[in-house]
Amino acid sequence: MSKSIPASPSATDYLNDDTDRDLGWIDADDPIALFEHWLARAGQTEPHDPHAMSVATVDADGQPDVRIVLLKGLTTQGFDFYSNSESAKGQQLAEVPRAALCFHWKSLRRQVRVRGHVERVGPEGSDDYFQSRARGSQISAWASDQSRPVEDRDTLIAEMDATEARFKGQAVPRPEHWFGYRLVPRAIEFWQDGAFRLHDRILFKRNGDTWEKTRLYP
Ligand SMILES: Cc1cc2nc3c(=O)[nH]c(=O)nc-3n(C[C@H](O)[C@H](O)[C@H](O)COP(=O)(O)O)c2cc1C
Repeated sequence: MSKSIPASPSATDYLNDDTDRDLGWIDADDPIALFEHWLARAGQTEPHDPHAMSVATVDADGQPDVRIVLLKGLTTQGFDFYSNSESAKGQQLAEVPRAALCFHWKSLRRQVRVRGHVERVGPEGSDDYFQSRARGSQISAWASDQSRPVEDRDTLIAEMDATEARFKGQAVPRPEHWFGYRLVPRAIEFWQDGAFRLHDRILFKRNGDTWEKTRLYP
């Protein structure tokens, strides 16, 4: 039997007090700048990983998939994340190079959704980011056959040890199969919780070099 999930009392308190809500953002007309602003704000209020985002992809059969990754770059060109191109997501993006992102900052009661096509971050950009990572993370990028079966944890640790020995005393190069993906946005939607579910939703759609802005019913 299903059990209903009660509303959080603190949420209700907050939502009924419109004076707490910062709605100045509704006048923004540059969604990238607005996103940067929201992300910086989330950096002050989220306990962990304000850059974490859901990335939805679709496989060759049209079956959707989704997982969390970290946003590692943001420019007017797009939203960058890094992964193993032989992983499930890598294979899906090779088949269907389109994706959607979703950020949810619970502390701010905000959501941002982004849709667009996905390109590769070039080798230079990918090398730069790879070299900025902790050595252990560089080693694990080689040692982990991401998304494929592994016998047990000991096998994974043995792969790490073997990779560490292989690169002992030298810089770890970026594996060819590990690089950045850039989602080039064509739509970005900002959502802010409102009392009685009268949320504010502002959708930006790319039209050539400009963004068209629309308010949506919640
Ligand atoms: C907070 C968080 C951050 C993560 N960041 C990344 C990341 O930046 N890149 C990545 O490949 N996987 C990251 N992961 C792991 C992915 O969620 C996922 O397990 C992995 O990429 C394999 O996904 P796939 O089988 O769909 O390819 C992260 C997971 C969490 C919970």
